[in-house]
Amino acid sequence: MKKLPLAIAFGALSVLGAVSASQVVLAQAETVDQTVLMSEGGPLYERNCQACHGAGGEGGIGERLIGSPVVGSTGGVVNQILLGAVEHGMPPFNRLSDREIAAISTYVRNSFTNAFGPVQPSEVTAIRAAAAGAGG
Ligand code: HEC
Repeated sequence: MKKLPLAIAFGALSVLGAVSASQVVLAQAETVDQTVLMSEGGPLYERNCQACHGAGGEGGIGERLIGSPVVGSTGGVVNQILLGAVEHGMPPFNRLSDREIAAISTYVRNSFTNAFGPVQPSEVTAIRAAAAGAGG
């Protein structure tokens, strides 16, 4: 008598499992507000980038980020952070999470008079996967 309800309960659990798996995918694709990404990105920029690119994006050891077309391109800025430019003196930052790279990208794209709009964590996930697939 107890075996049948158990089997049904198990079946219901696997259905629930499938539902929550797709909910996780949906949650990852959720858009994060630009103001949230900006406030997370500021301290991350200060810690990881400012020594070379300057507090105002004016450049120094690193390139000037004000009006940079690389910064203006979502793929450009995310790949630059992920891969760096090792032979030209910029280290890769691929140890940072998708969320952290999205926050730094959003910060440099919308500071120093730049107004290029946000980069979402889900976009970083996709660009990182493409770079890995290309052997980068
Ligand atoms: C140790 C110094 C150094 C650090 C730290 C550094 N960069 Fe760079 N960055 C450079 C150099 C040097 C270049 C130029 C590379 C080249 O000429 O290929 C550069 C280039 C860039 C460019 C391309 C700009 C353009 O218009 O070509 C972007 C965007 C950028 N860096 C963003 C960042 C961000 C964001 C961080 C922090 C996560 C960071 N960099 C950390 C040295 C650095």
